[in-house]
Amino acid sequence: MVSVGDGIAWIAGLPSAAMDEVLLLEDGSQALVFDLNQGLLGAILLHDTEGLTAGSTVRRAGRPLSTPVGDSLLGRVVDPLGLPLDGLPPPSHNGQQRLEGPSPAIIRRDFVHQPLYTGIKIVDALVPIGKGQRQLIIGDEGLGRSSLAIDAVIHQRGQDVYCVYVLIGQKRSTVVNTLQILRDHGSLEYTCVVVAEASALPGLKHLAPYTGCAIAEFWMERGRDTLVVYDDLSTHARTYRELSLLLRRPPGREAYPGDIFSIHAGLLERSTCLNAAHGGGSMSALPIVETQQGDIASYIPTNLISITDGQIYLDADLFAAGFRPAIDIARSVSRIGGRAQHPAIKAEAGRMKLDYLQFMELEVFTRFGAKLDAAMEKPLRRGRLLREILKQDRLAPLPVECQMAWLVAFNDGLLDPIEPERVGEALNRFYVRARESGLSLEASREGWSLAVADWLGDLKAPLPVGRGVGGEGA
Ligand SMILES: Nc1ncnc2c1ncn2[C@@H]1O[C@H](COP(=O)(O)OP(=O)(O)OP(=O)(O)O)[C@@H](O)[C@H]1O
Ligand SMILES: [Mg+2]
Repeated sequence: MVSVGDGIAWIAGLPSAAMDEVLLLEDGSQALVFDLNQGLLGAILLHDTEGLTAGSTVRRAGRPLSTPVGDSLLGRVVDPLGLPLDGLPPPSHNGQQRLEGPSPAIIRRDFVHQPLYTGIKIVDALVPIGKGQRQLIIGDEGLGRSSLAIDAVIHQRGQDVYCVYVLIGQKRSTVVNTLQILRDHGSLEYTCVVVAEASALPGLKHLAPYTGCAIAEFWMERGRDTLVVYDDLSTHARTYRELSLLLRRPPGREAYPGDIFSIHAGLLERSTCLNAAHGGGSMSALPIVETQQGDIASYIPTNLISITDGQIYLDADLFAAGFRPAIDIARSVSRIGGRAQHPAIKAEAGRMKLDYLQFMELEVFTRFGAKLDAAMEKPLRRGRLLREILKQDRLAPLPVECQMAWLVAFNDGLLDPIEPERVGEALNRFYVRARESGLSLEASREGWSLAVADWLGDLKAPLPVGRGVGGEGA
């Protein structure tokens, strides 16, 4: 070893070492070959040790890095090497999976064709996600990006989807908080959490998403549906930049190394939906990325937008105005999820979206104080109502039948008589009815109409809904 420090080591005298090969260090710790130079090898350290100095001996392990995988990782919190962080014994694993593997070949893949419900109204109705899809969650700091991902994980309870939540470079308090939420909602049972805290070695922060991916990949290859959250890839990119600069690679745009695009593309390409001949498993991915002042044109966000199948954009103004989740519908898109959406939901959501777009256009005029035609009153009112309906508390994901219920009620105009400020409260009771009824998406549109009218009728009695307001402006 020539020198060591800052989480990396320079090593001479191992001419045959290969990229991504594990190195065994004198004090029992390990490193990973990360950079091949003439005569000199750059390696990232995988253990925080004091015992290394220049001159320590290094041996090749002759194998790439792998992580324990298998069902025993459910409910566990591990570091990027698969070692337990939850104080329990190491998970008894079913096998090892390479951290950096190739992505599935085209012939093994299928089109995304099944919905993956997040329980978030705006997402499931307007930016639907399918199993195997990669959907970016993008926005400034503190706008609820992690909350969206956590809600999506919580909603998989009882859905037969195994989840992996990867926390990259997060504060200890955020890690503890996330674990607590998952535990409180009974979500750890079907989830594995991979953690590389802010204070972890840069090498470990770099590897964390690969570990999460490998764990999910093992399940996907065995026919399971999985969901991986990468929280977040901005930190991951910064860590990779740090390592690259330490290893003296030439910096490119925003000082990121030129291969950061292929690093992220390689990771996200491993998420897919396998075809029936290959077990039919899937790996959906929710990578999270942070923007500065909403600038989606900076390097890492644009890269990720072009790699993923769509994005959910969180907006600071919406958040400040109390519209939460602060998803900007106009700037969010799902390029492939629509195909996987249930036809019944798709039809209702399509109608609702038209109303919403019309409303947004009209609202611009009202801001200028323009006097609007009486005929415009109704769409404006309905738009305001819709905005209230779309607000949703965190940690309260909604079953898809409830989504169908409010969509039908809204499209049939049954919610119009309710004051916008009251609609949230009314809907909560309405959802209880929808849940109890057990009505499925396969029921006819007429069946839904009748049922929904019935549930709302029941609500009217105890609820002071402004009678007769419905005719206003019509
Ligand atoms: N649907 C919601 N309704 C009300 N408050 C919300 C909602 N979603 C998120 N919040 C609040 O917004 C704040 C930020 O949420 P969160 O931590 O998920 O954002 P983030 O973008 O991941 O932030 P960070 O930059 O810290 O990672 C939290 O206080 C959270 O409680
Ligand atoms: Mg967060």
